[in-house]
Parts: sequence; structure tokens; C-alpha cells
Amino acid sequence: MTAYLQGSYVARSSRPAGDLNAVMVSHARFTGDLANSFTLVVTSICGLLAFGGSSLVVNPLATLGIAVIGMVVLAIMRPLRARSHSAARSLADSSRVLGQEVSEVELLQREIELFQVKDQAFSRVSLQIRSVVNSLRRIRFLTTATPQLFQTAMLAAAVVSLLLIVESVDGSDLASVGAVVLLLIRSMSAAQQYVNANQRVIEQGSYAEATNELIHTLSASPIAFGDERPDSVTPVRLQDLDFSYDGESNVLSGVDLELRDGELIGVVGPSGAGKSTLVELLLRLRQPTGGRIVGGTTDWHEIDASEFAERVAFVPQQAVLITGTVAENVDLFRGLPEARIMRALKESHLEADIAELPDGIHTAGPRRQGTVGGQRQRLTIARALAGDPEILVLDEPTSALDAVSEATIRQTIEELPTGRLVIVVAHRYSTLRSCSRIIVLAKGRVEVDATPQEVAARSDFFRKMVNEDA
Ligand SMILES: Nc1ncnc2c1ncn2[C@@H]1O[C@H](COP(=O)(O)OP(=O)(O)O)[C@@H](O)[C@H]1O
Ligand SMILES: [Mg+2]
Repeated sequence: MTAYLQGSYVARSSRPAGDLNAVMVSHARFTGDLANSFTLVVTSICGLLAFGGSSLVVNPLATLGIAVIGMVVLAIMRPLRARSHSAARSLADSSRVLGQEVSEVELLQREIELFQVKDQAFSRVSLQIRSVVNSLRRIRFLTTATPQLFQTAMLAAAVVSLLLIVESVDGSDLASVGAVVLLLIRSMSAAQQYVNANQRVIEQGSYAEATNELIHTLSASPIAFGDERPDSVTPVRLQDLDFSYDGESNVLSGVDLELRDGELIGVVGPSGAGKSTLVELLLRLRQPTGGRIVGGTTDWHEIDASEFAERVAFVPQQAVLITGTVAENVDLFRGLPEARIMRALKESHLEADIAELPDGIHTAGPRRQGTVGGQRQRLTIARALAGDPEILVLDEPTSALDAVSEATIRQTIEELPTGRLVIVVAHRYSTLRSCSRIIVLAKGRVEVDATPQEVAARSDFFRKMVNEDA
């Protein structure tokens, strides 16, 4: 979880849904058990050394003979251990894929219901379940069979060892024979414990291995920020900005923009034009591959992270609420004063809705109870405003909403206290009616950047948007 939260957004956002869940829930548990199994391996080795050492004193020749036989048995079992290892690894991997597929079924529940493809959805998951079960069966078989085989081999070895002992002592030294036999029996049970525990280390170790790999990918080079705390982060100047996801083709190229304090800017453009990428660069979730961003007089990436968090806020396309009260949803772990939360709710036009709730802002469960799309989105706007940001970035905040909800959101945006810089990405003109400036992006370039009237005259795309809305 730490690797996930502290690591890079770029690595995090490319993970499939459900992956982290599988690792956090099942893998972590087995990785925890690994500590226990490992302790057992260590104690059994200590036992072996102690009993072996004692019997070495009593009867060196017989002990060495037994040790050699033990080594041979372990060497014979080597291929079994290799098989256990590969079975364990495929178990860990297939249960991770199962986690992803289960999560996809959850996300697609409506489509599955609507298309009446429940059986097909089930077959897909059950195929993966079968693969998990097969790996599990293989590893469980090996886990049971390996110690059994070892026991049988060791019993045979014991018979040979006894013959050796009897051969090596003269008939009068019966006490020595007794001691060695006793030590032999104890060593065998220590060896048995070793094989058992080692087998479990193999199984649980593969979960630990998979977990480690995930941690490693997630920890890959998070973006580093400086510690500047400038008085102002506006105007935001984007200077000859390039961005590429694959290092080959540019998704944004040569973007030059100056975004000033108090402006309400609409960003439009065909889907795939690079609007969301531009938003992610503004939010510092990704780093430009060329050019730079300057806030006021400070390089964007030199601004201290907590300072940046207080000054820049974001409203995503899809509102995601947490299990908790209305206030907790607006606060989102920041511990903001209640007055701020109340003000943000007011600014988001949720006051009337809150008044109807039995416990006001302390009413639990906006996540589950009948919160409609518009209210959910206004809650996330309140969340963004509660931090009193200087810059507010909204990426298609109304694309999932109906016209009435959209109108409320638009009103919220229009009535925001002045002195902020607001950037709204939208694909409907109605959301942008009060914008003072429109930027049209096309194929990663700024096509037009002007007043709405001018843009309507110069951009076919924008004119079409306006006409569709009329
Ligand atoms: N995580 C990603 N990895 C690789 N390519 C991406 C990723 N996100 C977006 N793209 C590509 O970048 C281009 C711009 O996408 P995006 O910024 O989402 O456009 P918009 O928001 O304008 O629809 C598209 O061609 C898209 O396929
Ligand atoms: Mg987008």
C-alpha cells in the first residue's frame, strides 16, 4: 500500500483494476505466513545441527554415513522442489488475474445484466478459477507428497544407517548404539519438519515474490518536486510543451499558453486531442517530455508538494465517493475546519440538499444512499473547493450528467468567488457558456485560443459545439 501511494502515478495508473486488491488481500496474508514458515525452517535446521553434532561426538563414522544418505535423499528430491516452485508461482499469478477479472465483472455489472451475458461472464471467471484450482491442486499435492516421500526415503535410509551403526561398533558398546539410534530418530523428525516448512516457504514465497514485483513496478521513479513556496503560482505559463506516452509519437506538441488569474477558460477539442493529458500535466501527475510549465516565476516542478496541494484542485469526470459522512467526503482525509466544508457545500449549491438530510453534513452514506449523479459531482466540486485553491481544473465534469444537473454545475462554476483560475474541459458548449476564453486543442496542438466569439468564427469544431447546444 505504501509503495502504491508513495510511488509514481504513471506506474500506478497503468495497473489493471483489481490487481492491487488481490495482492493486498490474498498475497499479503500468505506473505505474512511466510515469516512463520521461515522461523520453522530455521528451528528445524538448529535441531538438525544439535542432534547431528551430538551424534558426531558419540559415533563420528555412523553420523557421517547418515549425513551423506540424508544429502542424497535431498538431492533426489530437488526436481520436486523445482516443480513446487513453478506451481506456486503460477498459483500466485493466476489468483492475481482472477482478482482482475472479478473486478471487471463488478465494473461491467450493468452491461452484463443488459446484454444477458451472465453465463458468458461466469464462464470467463470460472475458467480463471479453474486455472487457480489447478495450480492449487498441483501445489497442494506436492506439499503433501514431498514430505511423505521424504519420510519413506528417510525410513529406508534409517535401516541402512542402523546396519552401518551395528557394523561400526563392537558388540559390547550397546549404550553407544542406543544413543545414536535415539539421536537418529530425533534428527529424522527435525529433518521432516525442515522439509514440511521448506515446502510451505516455497508456496508462500511465491506470493511474496509476486508482491515484491508489484512493489518494484510501483516504486519506479516517482516525479520529484522541489521545495519552493512562492507567493503566487499564477499566471501559469506553458512553454513549448511536448508530451509523449511512448517516447515516439507526441500527444501534445509545442503547446504555448498563458493562463491568468481570474480567468475562466474552456478547453475543447475532439476526443483524443490531448485535453486530459494536458490536465494531467497541469496537475503534475505526469512530467512534460519537452518544454516547461512556470507558475508565477517558479518552475512548476520546483513547487513544494503540500504547497501545490493547497493551491491546485481537481474535479474528475467520474465522482468517486468514500464510505463515510457527507463532511468526510468533502474533507477527504485533510482534516479541514467544518466552516470550510460548510462554505464549500454552499458554493457547490448543496445547501438545500444538505438541509433535507437527517443529520446534515454528518449524515452517513452518500456513497450508497440515493445520491444522484448531479449531487455526487457537486460533492466532488465541494471537495475541490474546500481546500480554497487558487487554481481549479475540471476535466469533463458534466459529461456524465443530465441537462438539469449540468446547469447547476455550470452555475456553481460561474458563481465561484473571483480571483481564481478555472480551467474546464468540456465537450458541450452549455458547460462553457460563461467562459471568457476558449482554447481549442486538435491533435495535440493549440488550434485557436481566443474569446468565444472569435473562436466561433475561426473554429469549425467549436461552431459545431455551439450549434448543437442551441
Ligand atoms: N495512459 C495512456 N497511455 C498511452 N496513451 C494514452 C494514455 N492516455 C491517453 N493516451 C493517448 O493520448 C491521446 C490523447 O488522449 P487524451 O489526453 O485522453 O485526449 P482527450 O482527453 O482530449 O480525449 C490519445 O491518442 C490517447 O489514446
Ligand atoms: Mg479526456
